[in-house]
Amino acid sequence: VHWTAEEKQFIISLWGKVNVAECGGEALARLLIVYPWTQRFFSTFGNLSSANAILHNPKVHAHGKKVLTSFGDAVKNLDNIKATFAHLSELHCDKLHVDPENFKLLGNILVIVLATHFGKDFTPASQAAWQKLVSSVAHALSLKYH
Ligand code: HEM
Repeated sequence: VHWTAEEKQFIISLWGKVNVAECGGEALARLLIVYPWTQRFFSTFGNLSSANAILHNPKVHAHGKKVLTSFGDAVKNLDNIKATFAHLSELHCDKLHVDPENFKLLGNILVIVLATHFGKDFTPASQAAWQKLVSSVAHALSLKYH
């Protein structure tokens, strides 16, 4: 991927304001609520029986934070996203058996979470840069699938 200086600016400046624990937990919770079939990967997480249960599930929060922290490695390595996620791609394929279509779903959910948190500051141009980033991460995570 090629990034313009403006795109990098949109990504890095917004990321500096993101509360990773809060947005990460919310993104994973929304994924599990909006696309309930994704719950099958998290059968060890306890009570996922309702939207409310998911929103208040501490394991969902902790894992969402872990995922968004890891996503932050993309922000820090914009010119090297494929290599940054090579190991996680192998893990999600070989060990976790996560269908890579889910990476796209989570990326779009993350964009929605950013929109709800930043409102008007999440301008169309900023969204465009973020949309490109979540697609790049989803692509990188799917590269080691075989
Ligand atoms: C575990 C990152 C998307 C399912 C993990 C871990 C990281 C991670 C860092 C921990 C790995 C370790 O313990 O060494 C990411 C990133 C994603 C992403 C950056 C996309 C932006 C997804 C999606 C799903 C998923 C969409 C399924 C719908 C899992 C599962 C685990 C895991 C089931 C193991 C959870 C456990 O039992 O501890 N992921 N992930 N991941 N991920 Fe992902």
